[in-house]
Amino acid sequence: MSFDTQAINKQRQDLDELTDIWVFGYGSLIYKVDFDYLESQYGYIHGYARRFWQGSHDHRGTPESPGRVLTLSPKKDEKCFGRVFKVTHDVFDHLDHREKNGYLRELIDVELTSGEHIQALVYIAAPENAAYLGAADEHAIAQHIFNAKGPSGRNRDYVYQLAAALRKHQQVDPHVFAIEAALRQLEQIHQIY
Ligand code: BEZ
Repeated sequence: MSFDTQAINKQRQDLDELTDIWVFGYGSLIYKVDFDYLESQYGYIHGYARRFWQGSHDHRGTPESPGRVLTLSPKKDEKCFGRVFKVTHDVFDHLDHREKNGYLRELIDVELTSGEHIQALVYIAAPENAAYLGAADEHAIAQHIFNAKGPSGRNRDYVYQLAAALRKHQQVDPHVFAIEAALRQLEQIHQIY
């Protein structure tokens, strides 16, 4: 698979067939939105877990030194908190470009905090994509993230902002919080030496 998934996303889904289009964000979209939307709510997708297993060559790293960003990994009995936005079609041109480094859109059921269910498009970077880095020990992931930076800023700030946003919404994500804790330890070690 090429690094640029924009054309594949366009070809895979005819958005004209959908009247209300929702997009589910499980990363920076929880705390920062860079597009217009019609409505927003919070909810969960079931059977997936958030993981820092995707390489970032264009946002939190560089082609020479990729960072680690989020994807979703199928995980039975888990649920992933996020934010959904009702949007117009043109927003997907923007998001497809922003998430072109390996993410494909999937239509997935979202359970809103109201209990209602909707279908939303979710950007997932699957193991087959060329930028995928995969599982690693959470300390090793933290060490990697600590050293990475790219056009969107320091990789570690992405983790800190996400962890703060999850806490604000009373959400616990052991993977994110373990990496955040390991990063804070690295900050202390680097301050001492
Ligand atoms: C987000 O929630 O910001 C997001 C995460 C991965 C891919 C696309 C969007």
